[in-house]
Amino acid sequence: MRVTIIGAGYVGLTTGACLSELGHDVICVDIDKERIARLKAGVFPFREAGLDEIMIRNMACRRLRFSDHLASAVRGRDIVMVAVGTPKGVRGEADLAFVRQAAQSFAPFLSPRTVVTLKSTVAVGTAREVREIIAEERGALDFWVTSNPEFLREGSAVSDFLTPDRIVIGADDRDAGERLIKLYRPLLDRGVPLVETGTADAELIKYAANAFLALKIGFTNDVADLCEVTEGDINSVAKGIGLDPRIGTAFLKPGPGYGGSCFPKDTEAFAWIGRALNAPQPLIEALIARNDYRKRHIAERVLKEIAGISGAQVAVLGAAFKANTDDVRESAALQIVPALQKANVGVKMFDPWASGNAAPLLPSATWAEDPYDAAQGADLLLILTEWEMFRSLDPARLAEALRRPVVFDCRNLFDPEQMALYGFRYVSLGRANVPRERRWRSNPLPNNRQKAASPST
Ligand SMILES: NC(=O)c1ccc[n+]([C@@H]2O[C@H](COP(=O)([O-])OP(=O)(O)OC[C@H]3O[C@@H](n4cnc5c(N)ncnc54)[C@H](O)[C@@H]3O)[C@@H](O)[C@H]2O)c1
Repeated sequence: MRVTIIGAGYVGLTTGACLSELGHDVICVDIDKERIARLKAGVFPFREAGLDEIMIRNMACRRLRFSDHLASAVRGRDIVMVAVGTPKGVRGEADLAFVRQAAQSFAPFLSPRTVVTLKSTVAVGTAREVREIIAEERGALDFWVTSNPEFLREGSAVSDFLTPDRIVIGADDRDAGERLIKLYRPLLDRGVPLVETGTADAELIKYAANAFLALKIGFTNDVADLCEVTEGDINSVAKGIGLDPRIGTAFLKPGPGYGGSCFPKDTEAFAWIGRALNAPQPLIEALIARNDYRKRHIAERVLKEIAGISGAQVAVLGAAFKANTDDVRESAALQIVPALQKANVGVKMFDPWASGNAAPLLPSATWAEDPYDAAQGADLLLILTEWEMFRSLDPARLAEALRRPVVFDCRNLFDPEQMALYGFRYVSLGRANVPRERRWRSNPLPNNRQKAASPST
């Protein structure tokens, strides 16, 4: 099929590359002319495992092309897919300006019976609004607007796209839905489940899915806090609850609060939709506040660890919002590092991929060549991103480099008992940070027998 993708960002490029890999003829368009020029020259704007190979292969056989010439890229295509950004608006709503602007700009060039589909994460009712925008421009033109939300994750975007859990196709017209089914036929034939629904449901599915996943993270962080005061272990608790198939083991790891380009803005947009449509989402409202608190609280805990040290230095490992991406949008580092600096703490950072993106946003931080360089002379080592390379750091070398052997690990990469053996004060999340034997001997839980008089439930 002939597909044009409007917006060559994370989602647009991955989608374009993967659709060309499935055999479709794809043109990616972007208003950023420089980006298009670089793409044509084979310079890719971000790092994503496996994406370069697919792009190079499909560019070579011209199944994947890039253009900044909207008219020729949109005329005569079977599908025009919108993958532009939908950032957070001033009241938390999804700012649809890029979507509206894109629709206005390509509407004059749409051929009859084109299916427009919204890949961007958009508020309920946006497909219908886009239909109106195009209809205003083109009057009697026969076309459809559908919704096809994307669930890929940065860091595993290519495999997520090519082996998705499900494909959601939202169409208010049968023929339009059939066109999208044909687009995804190679994946559907491999047994990928299909959810066929109306546009409004498809739009809601994306937000509800992200809100639910974010809730799992927020809940796990709160349970981790409880584990810390009960000298428990969040890993055991998460395993114990996650093996229940109704819950599942994914997203049950504690951390410094969720970030990234999706969860923060999508939870806010979901809450906003609830408020706007008078169907409040109090769980999500609480989650948003709690996640923000989480990041502030981690910074407070770090400051407590180094209280009283004049000219304190902290080594921060990880600027990306998660491992295997160079994306720093709403990452924990962007909130925690400035909080430390505000308290006059010097920060030296390292991230294997994301330093280039983070450096302009954290101008007062200095950047290290490697994790040991970052740790050199620091009073505390703070781990914010779960990069695999951090897990294999040599504790002996770290201990040697640090001025004080204190590690605050927000990703639980090390074994507390091992770290204690190396002489570290090791703080991790949701774990007692004391040897298991000692934990079993001193049970800090309230004595239930003493409370026998209280009503049981
Ligand atoms: N990043 C993710 O992991 C992810 C996952 C699922 C869904 N989404 C959703 O997909 C959408 C895109 O996200 P992203 O991360 O790819 O954004 P992005 O910022 O990386 O890319 C958006 C691109 O659209 C371009 N653009 C904006 N207006 C345009 C126009 N009128 N014409 C042509 N190009 C235009 C921008 O120049 C930019 O290159 C968002 O709605 C996001 O919520 C993102």
